[in-house]
Amino acid sequence: KIPLLIDTDPGVDDALAILMAFADARHEVVGLTIAAGNVGLSHTVGNALKLCEVAGVDVPVFAGCDAPLLHPARDAAYVHGQDGFGDTGYAPAVRKAEAEHAALAILRLSHEHAGRLLLVALGPLTNLALALKLDPTLPQRVDRLVVMGGAFTAHGNITAAAEFNIAFDPEAAYIVFEAFGAAGGFDLVDWEATLAHGLPHDDVVKWLQAGSVRATFYEAISRQTREWSADRRGDRWHSADALAMACALAPEGLLEHQTRPVAVELDGRHTRGATVVDWLRQGGQPDTARLVLRYDQSAFEQRVRDALAAG
Ligand code: BDR
Ligand code: CA
Repeated sequence: KIPLLIDTDPGVDDALAILMAFADARHEVVGLTIAAGNVGLSHTVGNALKLCEVAGVDVPVFAGCDAPLLHPARDAAYVHGQDGFGDTGYAPAVRKAEAEHAALAILRLSHEHAGRLLLVALGPLTNLALALKLDPTLPQRVDRLVVMGGAFTAHGNITAAAEFNIAFDPEAAYIVFEAFGAAGGFDLVDWEATLAHGLPHDDVVKWLQAGSVRATFYEAISRQTREWSADRRGDRWHSADALAMACALAPEGLLEHQTRPVAVELDGRHTRGATVVDWLRQGGQPDTARLVLRYDQSAFEQRVRDALAAG
C-alpha cells in the first residue's frame, strides 16, 4: 500500500477527507500530524483522536504547532463550531496524542517511507514549514505533496483575495511553496475548485443515513456547518479538504489542470495570504505547482459516499 501522511486541522471537512483516506484500499494512513487552524490545537488534536476512535483505526496522532509562525490569525470556529466538530459535546477519545512533535514525526516518517510517501496537507502549513526548516531535504523523500489551499484568481473565502489555510499562516505557505516548488512541484487544490465541485445537500443527507458508525458520527459533527453553508451558498455543500483528498487518492480523476509558478503574497494591503499564479509566465520563473481545475465529479461523490458507508 502507498503510505499516506495527513497534516490537518480537523475541522469538519478535514474529518471527511480523513475518512476517505481510511476507506481507501490502495493507501495506508501512517500518521495524522495536527496543526492549529480551524480551531485551537487542543481541539484539533482531540478531534483527530476522536475520529480515529469512532472509525476504529489506530493511526498515531502527533500534535504540532499551536499558532502561525509569525502573526496571530483568526480561526474558523464560525464555520466548524467552537470545538471544530460542530459542538456536539462528544466524550473525548481515550487515546492520547504521541509525545513526538508533528514536525519531527513528518521528518521521521519521510525517512521510514522515503521515496514512496504521499503527503496531504489539509490545514495551515505551519508544521510542514517547521519540518522544512529543520531539514530542507524533506522534499527529496516525499513522492507527492497535495495541498488544499489558495484561490487561483483571488476569489478568497477569508479575505477578499485569500483562502483560509494560506491566510492563516502565509509565511509557512511561502516556505512550503518555495521548497516543494523547487524540488519538482506539488499539487494544489484551491477554494475555487472547491466551489466548482459542490456536493448536493440532498444527496449528502442520504449518504449520511448509511447506518454506519462513521456516517452517524459525521452526520452529527457536520450538521451545524451544513446548515450554515446551506443558508449562504445554496443547494451544494463545499468540502475543500474532501476534494483535495480525492485528488490525492485517485489522481486519475483529475480532468483538467495547469502547471504554473505560484507565489504567496506576504505583504499586500488587501492581499496578504493570496496565492498569485503567473498564468502567462510573465516573471520568467519556473513552474512550481500543478493547479487542479476540474475533477471527475461523480468519482468524487462516489468516494465521499463510500467513505461514509465504510467501517
Ligand atoms: C480550508 O479552510 C478550512 O476551514 C477547511 O478545513 C479547509 O481546509 C478551506 O478554505
Ligand atoms: Ca482543513
